[in-house]
Amino acid sequence: MGKVHQEDSNVKEKNSELSLVRVKGTWKSKTGLKIKDAVDCVSAAKIYESISEQGTTWTVVSPITFTYKVTETHSLLDPSNDTLLLGHITDPQQMEDIKRSNKPMRRFVVVDQEVYKIYGPKLTEYLEANDVVYKVLALPTTEENKSMETALKILEEVNNFSLDRRTEPVIAIGGGVCLDIVGLAASLYRRRTPYIRVPTTLLSYIDASVGAKTGVNFANCKNKLGAYIPPAAAFLDLSFMQSVPRRHISNGLAEMLKMALMKHKGLFELLEEHGCMLLDTKFQTGNNVYGHNSVKVASQTTRIAILTMLEELAPNLWEDDLNRLVDFGHLISPALEMKVLPSLLHGEAVNIDMSYMTYVSHESGLLTEEEKQRIISCMVGLELPVWHEEFTMELVQKSLQDRLKHSGGLVRMPLPVGLGQAEIFNNISYDILQKAFIKWCEELSVSSDSTCDA
Ligand SMILES: NC(=O)c1ccc[n+]([C@@H]2O[C@H](COP(=O)([O-])OP(=O)(O)OC[C@H]3O[C@@H](n4cnc5c(N)ncnc54)[C@H](O)[C@@H]3O)[C@@H](O)[C@H]2O)c1
Ligand SMILES: [Zn+2]
Repeated sequence: MGKVHQEDSNVKEKNSELSLVRVKGTWKSKTGLKIKDAVDCVSAAKIYESISEQGTTWTVVSPITFTYKVTETHSLLDPSNDTLLLGHITDPQQMEDIKRSNKPMRRFVVVDQEVYKIYGPKLTEYLEANDVVYKVLALPTTEENKSMETALKILEEVNNFSLDRRTEPVIAIGGGVCLDIVGLAASLYRRRTPYIRVPTTLLSYIDASVGAKTGVNFANCKNKLGAYIPPAAAFLDLSFMQSVPRRHISNGLAEMLKMALMKHKGLFELLEEHGCMLLDTKFQTGNNVYGHNSVKVASQTTRIAILTMLEELAPNLWEDDLNRLVDFGHLISPALEMKVLPSLLHGEAVNIDMSYMTYVSHESGLLTEEEKQRIISCMVGLELPVWHEEFTMELVQKSLQDRLKHSGGLVRMPLPVGLGQAEIFNNISYDILQKAFIKWCEELSVSSDSTCDA
């Protein structure tokens, strides 16, 4: 393993690969590790030592594994359901120790103020019934307050509560804004305090809860400060959706449709056929005119949306690979969203972008006229806007130029190539973009007038 390169007579360099082994509690570096060596443990980390005439460099390769759970459950706030308190634990020994200990559990909970108004009494009842020593901090976690100031306010309270970062995860309950701010605050506290996400909007249920990203807005840019630190667990309970306004259900359905168009024809067909039912029932299981079918469709659609999202995120948790299907609908929409703030919700802006890109796909010969029509009808059925007057050709050009800058010189445009299938393209011409734009405006501008300002 220890290698010596003698490259030419002037440059002498000695390169060694060092394994790290633990012997009686002490880590040691070793070259040429043999199987028969008596060691307690061999680390996956390596140190590569390079000695030249200019000096010595140690290159450290330290693989870090993130393990987190995404759990769909029901009755999360029922006192007999211990998921919220214990569901994140993966080590059986730790679970046993906690169950045997007679010390009360302690939890710091941050809740979106609006959510607190509806579910606050149930939450405190749950914590009290389980003898938890708790602090519940209800905050107005709106997009305008998605800032470092709010994160610091949370951190001060966390510090006053004097949390044990090894055993007492911070719990966030709310929409994507609340989950993003709390995730960042927890990741900063003592360098990385575990946190738990409980999404209460559809968008955060299928999107913000599933991945590793946290963040706050900064310098007038969305999510400019943040970290890629996943939660210890995300606990998903559809019953929170019953109080979500209909427009916000549509908003979440846009991100679900994104996954359908990119990866799953079956999900597309479910949304096409049952979109209206999902809006009417808000993914609830109670008695309604749709009967048992609504329960089945609600669980099928969320399950597929979460799994397809996890498939794309898990191998690329830190977004090192820039070719991302989940960017569909997110190339032009950030500029549109900022331009018309606060009139469009995130999912609505994403849908307008996806609608235009559907025309780009069709103009490029990747989608048939029938497929294009089906996609647009499905969007309309989900009560999502499909056109916006502020979505101009200038906006398209500027956004794609920005994308080139931040995406390694390639535009990496995900486009549907049939229903439920997609590829990344780098060579869509300006001519196609413009022809698609003209057709998009001709066909959709009139029909969308009313939906856009809804
Ligand atoms: N981290 C990620 O990977 C990720 C992914 C997607 C979106 N996001 C972020 O998520 C945010 C958008 O999330 P959002 O759409 O959930 O918005 P949001 O958090 O602003 O919530 C929307 C509104 O719904 C209210 N609300 C929340 N739950 C409710 C409930 N159960 N009943 C009644 N009202 C309720 C909130 O008070 C708020 O007014 C954006 O800031 C976006 O950047 C993050
Ligand atoms: Zn999005």
